[in-house]
Amino acid sequence: MTNSISNLELPHSVSLLEKMAAESIENGPFTYVHSGSGNEITLKANIDAFESWQIVPKYLNDVSIRDTSSKILDTTFPNSFALAPVGVQSIFHPEGELASARAAAHYGVPFIASTFTSHSLEEIATHLGDTPRWFQLYWSKDEELAISMVKRAEKAGYSAIVITVDTSLIGNRERDLNNGYSPLKLGKGSANYINDPVFLERFKTRPSSDDKGVIEKIGDVLFNPSLTWEDLRTIKKHTSLPILLKGILHEEDASKAMDYGVDGLIVSNHGGRQLDGCISSLEALPPIADVIQGRMPILLDSGIRRGSDVIKARALGASAVLLGRPFVYGLAIAGEQGVRQVLKNFINDIDTSLALTGCTSMSQVNKSLIRRKK
Ligand SMILES: Cc1cc2nc3c(=O)[nH]c(=O)nc-3n(C[C@H](O)[C@H](O)[C@H](O)COP(=O)(O)O)c2cc1C
Repeated sequence: MTNSISNLELPHSVSLLEKMAAESIENGPFTYVHSGSGNEITLKANIDAFESWQIVPKYLNDVSIRDTSSKILDTTFPNSFALAPVGVQSIFHPEGELASARAAAHYGVPFIASTFTSHSLEEIATHLGDTPRWFQLYWSKDEELAISMVKRAEKAGYSAIVITVDTSLIGNRERDLNNGYSPLKLGKGSANYINDPVFLERFKTRPSSDDKGVIEKIGDVLFNPSLTWEDLRTIKKHTSLPILLKGILHEEDASKAMDYGVDGLIVSNHGGRQLDGCISSLEALPPIADVIQGRMPILLDSGIRRGSDVIKARALGASAVLLGRPFVYGLAIAGEQGVRQVLKNFINDIDTSLALTGCTSMSQVNKSLIRRKK
């Protein structure tokens, strides 16, 4: 099967999208998006957690007019979700992030660009029109480089910095290791590096994305295991943009984030790709929401597959969610059109789920509408 389809009609369920994506692309990239780390216990727990909570709807409200939006740090999320930062999207489709950015722009869905992309953050921005965008930072071991990327994001109209804190090292992704598959080694995530003035200063001549020296250098500086809470003060000195931490799972870390003046949290376990055996995002959410008490926005990802998942996350304390793997399957199947279809179906499902919960706006979705399955 080729990955550009006209008159496209993609399946509505993620399990069928997964199958179609598996038939559309090579095993290496498919496994890279599909798999988790270790024995994939956390990957599975993310889905199970959503099944262990039940919505208790309330009826006979007029739900003929509905508003699925939420506002987070001055950014409107028209459907209470954004696209999660997903790196190296050219391994799924030649247009990579440019295709998913255009699909997000079509529906006004906020886009979070990863550090480790196949196209530069500036080029991605040109495909987003007026659509809100945030930049996800892997805080480099080379601090000057990290600051340079933040400055570039600011200049290109990104309105928040999302610092991913769960990736001090890359997780032990057994299926990728068994396949010997590494997008880094193929030079697929170099765009933000080879277009960065600070990174280029480290080379005598301008290198290309798959130069051995570039790949080695990125491998050396991509993640920073020595990062601490105190380092947040540095980034705050260099940008006026709001800062969110992605990957928070412990309520004590949520509390610390408040102390350090962070502006928002993304409760996430990286889709079960980092520490296998760690708590699912949805289970981590209620204690974090208790600590935060509405003083900063909380978002959630890892396991969002349907509209009812958005309602559950919202009822347990998240203002909005991030959609990850499902849009990547759409990208793998049919590029921009594939992502568009996945977004269209998800947006409809959120709206239907809101109405069937008996609510006319996301602000009405609260704890009273959810119970744990006995
Ligand atoms: C292929 C792939 C690449 C990813 N790349 C990044 C990344 O560059 N930065 C980041 O913070 N998270 C990254 N993530 C994690 C996502 O942002 C998100 O946390 C995860 O996909 C949520 O899990 P779910 O897709 O199973 O719902 C990636 C996830 C996948 C599947």
